[in-house]
Amino acid sequence: MKFQHFFAPCPRGLESVLASELAQVGAAAIQTLHGGVAFQGDWRICYRANLESRIASRILWQIASQPYHNEANIYDITHALPWHKWFGPELSIRVNLAAIKCPLRSLDFVTLRIKDAICDKFRNVCGQRPNVDTVNPAIRIHAFLDAQILTLYLDTSGEALFKRGLRQHAGEAPLRENLAAGILYLAGWQPGIPLLDPMCGSGTFLMEAAQMACRIAPGSGRHFAFEKFKLLDATLWQQLKQSAQDQQLPYIPQPIFGSDLYGYALAHARNNLTAAGLIDVVSLKQANVLEITAPAASGILVTNPPYGVRIGEQQALAQLYPKLGDVLKKKFPGWNAYIFTADPLLPKLIRLTASRRIPLFNGALECRLLEYKIISGSMRKKTKNIDCQQSDTTLS
Ligand SMILES: C[S@@+](CC[C@H](N)C(=O)[O-])C[C@H]1O[C@@H](n2cnc3c(N)ncnc32)[C@H](O)[C@@H]1O
Repeated sequence: MKFQHFFAPCPRGLESVLASELAQVGAAAIQTLHGGVAFQGDWRICYRANLESRIASRILWQIASQPYHNEANIYDITHALPWHKWFGPELSIRVNLAAIKCPLRSLDFVTLRIKDAICDKFRNVCGQRPNVDTVNPAIRIHAFLDAQILTLYLDTSGEALFKRGLRQHAGEAPLRENLAAGILYLAGWQPGIPLLDPMCGSGTFLMEAAQMACRIAPGSGRHFAFEKFKLLDATLWQQLKQSAQDQQLPYIPQPIFGSDLYGYALAHARNNLTAAGLIDVVSLKQANVLEITAPAASGILVTNPPYGVRIGEQQALAQLYPKLGDVLKKKFPGWNAYIFTADPLLPKLIRLTASRRIPLFNGALECRLLEYKIISGSMRKKTKNIDCQQSDTTLS
């Protein structure tokens, strides 16, 4: 089969990590773009990317890319495609449209014309048209318009890939699974290196790390839209799933540690890990981050502290952050700490010098991944006039 063109969107900031992942599954002509990665490959690559990528949000198959002038034109381009060869009219559809610098007046009307063109084509060829289901469609069609070009994609993933089909309890402010996995990659964590999340909430970092340690393909517990395509190569797909299954390692204890101040948060993490069969891989305990000790002589601490929006919360955090800096410095020499936060005050109040500040987006929210290499006694930032400094914290 000739190579097809694909686009894999991902959380902004993780494009280069995704590009390396796609190279590992054999993708060709990889192009790192803003918010995703374009690549080429056959269906094997598409199936593997869906099954194995921890970072991609979706794998979109490009089915058209043509200049357009107006709505009638967009209808014709869409109508000319052989939709009936890709899926049956009994499957529900949804059309998503995104546009940048598109001169047309109503994007809703364009979306409607694309949907009409697909339905009319089915009615002409099959005598039956697909229903629209905006909530839980079987088939998703993505259209992208820039000033001149209409690009149409068939979504091969269906539900977004960060929905691994494993998390039962989301907790209060859970990270998306692909963002958590990307942060672990950026932190340079690899199975075998001690990992600690001392504010683990529902345990997203722990869950991703446990899956990586046991070599569990992130998509092994769910289904994909391409399984409903007429083009499905069922034999190839079975082989790839089997081969992923064969690579799994036993679910034995790993040096992956999680804790949280609140029992209810820890219960979410425990339930999620138990439901995934991974509870024995990870050690969990209820603890205040300010009272913990390092579980190993060196390792990687990755965490996503609470982020306060209300005034009272912000004051509480302004007290927590300097103490967190103290704990890292006093109790974690030899560790690398990665703190993921949307709070611009954290880097100032923690009073440690970050060796890297990586911009990442949690949806539309701009965040930073701050890297602190904890070396005993030498890295305290000399900060003057910190308003919220606690009387019991000391500057060295
Ligand atoms: C933003 S949430 C973490 C979400 C988590 N990454 C997830 O994906 O579910 C912050 C967590 O910090 C916990 N926390 C707040 N203060 C703490 C403290 N002093 N010690 C330990 N955990 C704390 C909260 O209970 C909450 O679960």
